[in-house]
Amino acid sequence: MHGNRILLIIGGGIAAYKSLELIRRLKERGHTVRAILTKAGAEFVTPLSLAALSGERVFQDLFSLTDESEMGHIQLSRAADLVVLAPATADLMAKMAGGHANDLASTALLATDKPVLMAPAMNVRMWNSPATQRNRATLERDGVAFVGPNEGEMACGEFGPGRMAEPDEIVAAIETLLAAPGPLAGMSALVTAGPTHEPLDPVRYIANRSSGRQGYAIAGALAEAGADTMLVSGPVAIAAPPRVKLVQVETAREMLAACESALPVDVAVCAAAVADWRPEAMANQKIKKNAAHSALKLTANPDILRTLSQGAQRPSLVVGFAAETENVIAHAQEKRLAKGCDWIVANDVSPVTGVMGGANNTVHLITAKGVENWPELDKGEVGRRLAARIAQALKTSAA
Ligand code: CTP
Repeated sequence: MHGNRILLIIGGGIAAYKSLELIRRLKERGHTVRAILTKAGAEFVTPLSLAALSGERVFQDLFSLTDESEMGHIQLSRAADLVVLAPATADLMAKMAGGHANDLASTALLATDKPVLMAPAMNVRMWNSPATQRNRATLERDGVAFVGPNEGEMACGEFGPGRMAEPDEIVAAIETLLAAPGPLAGMSALVTAGPTHEPLDPVRYIANRSSGRQGYAIAGALAEAGADTMLVSGPVAIAAPPRVKLVQVETAREMLAACESALPVDVAVCAAAVADWRPEAMANQKIKKNAAHSALKLTANPDILRTLSQGAQRPSLVVGFAAETENVIAHAQEKRLAKGCDWIVANDVSPVTGVMGGANNTVHLITAKGVENWPELDKGEVGRRLAARIAQALKTSAA
């Protein structure tokens, strides 16, 4: 496996010298390595050796103006495929388990949305202490993976578990984690997003303010979770997320046709703001001013969500959206029944909320069992939470 981006956090321990070798091996295998060196880590290895081996600058300070202007700590933790702590000291483990954010390493760990792998290294008594074992259990529950520690003679002369895993073992653990199938591996997903454009004549169309951001984030999260994902999108100004198959359409009828040709799929998420109406006929020539009043005869568009929910090839799970400006939950519950879908993601799109075109969203997930009120999250996080809920639901229905 090649070409992944690793963020390596180096804590303060004698095993830090092995991290230099780890960087070399990872680079040989085509990975990019960026290092965060803690204050204690800098007592054992120098930033210069790390920079020379990684070919990247080394990050050390949370409050450094140069570091923050080049790459903020949030960005640093997000721009990686995997975060590796080697050596992971007792203190770094405690900080992460406790959710601390008082230096660059702990802040990056709290901010990351990527898998984390720890290679602990410490004295055997420190490793066996109730506090460290409690922290290890907490971290494992939070989804952190561990490699080592190995048993053996330690630098301090004692014998037992506490030695950091060897660079080769850490490389193998990294590559296993990166290759791990996501919870939606083997599943297929269809997502609609963006507005539709309904032409009136060769130069005019009816449209709406949808930016497509929420739908794109959902498609990205489903693909990241391993689903074979097709995104059917109306005209938007944003790029398709990685690993998503993008089909670009303009009108509701084109969107429906693209969706139907994607069937069968395991899950469909209809996040598009489809125009409910279209001009009855598209004029072949630009409509002149004096004829405009008679030009706007509308006819209903097909309802894609309803068609998918009630069709012969119904996906196992169909999720719709309800963008409302009043009585959000009641309207969404009615919509869930009227359309025949399983879930509705409801949100308030009144202008004061800034949801339309904005980065954040406050949604309610309406299912047959009731209403889940999610906190205000950025649209990426709404996508990831929804993908996780979808994975859970599909697993239960397959079981
Ligand atoms: N939808 C669709 N095809 C349409 C219209 C809507 O797939 N022609 C989907 C949207 O993608 C969304 C849900 O249906 O998942 C929204 O339902 P809808 O009843 O269209 O919402 P509104 O347009 O807001 O309806 P109303 O104006 O009645 O509130």
